[in-house]
Amino acid sequence: MKNTLIAPSVLAADFANLQRDIEMINNSDADWFHIDIMDGVFVPNISFGMPVLEAITRHTTKTIDVHLMIVDPDRYIKTFADLGANILCVHYEACTHLHRTLQAIKNEGMKAGVALNPHTSVDLLEDVINDIDLVCVMSVNPGFGGQSFIENTYDKVKKLKALIDRKGASTIIEIDGGVTNKNAKQLVEAGADVLVAGSYVFKSDNPANTIADLKKLTSN
Ligand code: DX5
Ligand code: ZN
Repeated sequence: MKNTLIAPSVLAADFANLQRDIEMINNSDADWFHIDIMDGVFVPNISFGMPVLEAITRHTTKTIDVHLMIVDPDRYIKTFADLGANILCVHYEACTHLHRTLQAIKNEGMKAGVALNPHTSVDLLEDVINDIDLVCVMSVNPGFGGQSFIENTYDKVKKLKALIDRKGASTIIEIDGGVTNKNAKQLVEAGADVLVAGSYVFKSDNPANTIADLKKLTSN
């Protein structure tokens, strides 16, 4: 296999002990921090915003992967760059001019990501795949942690991987939602490069061990 990247989702952390949980991720085998920003409009939930992200970036040197579940994300591209985001991922469904948005993200020095809702076909990325650094395949409907994994994701990832190869793109594939030790390996075999895990990590008895196990299970 390969070096699969593990990105714990801070959404499932204990916000009353955020520094403890950030330090746990810092000292673990995790590769990235996955940060879910929800606006209560694009998704039916509000998570946290800029001050919390600013606090997190102050306490880590690991890659900050920001997943924007907000309408009109163009308004905040510069803000997230200034806050220290390394990857900025917008939803396909939230962008009228996706190609322009991707260029704007890159112009701010970040990697550009596109997230797809479960109902959105990977075929819709055909004309823009070479401009995308990362596709985040949602394996749940965005808005909440702790939902169950949608099985169709395996086929979707295979289809996306085929599209990336056919177009000669260097896009990487991230999976977000319901990731556990039950589906991780099969997702990587289908073509996933990055696994986001929220509840599975933070609801376990030993989150750092759970991260290490996920890493071991999916890398060699
Ligand atoms: C869902 C978020 C996810 C979420 C994953 O809208 O985008 O990143 O935190 O949580 P789990 O792993 O619990 O499904
Ligand atoms: Zn997410």
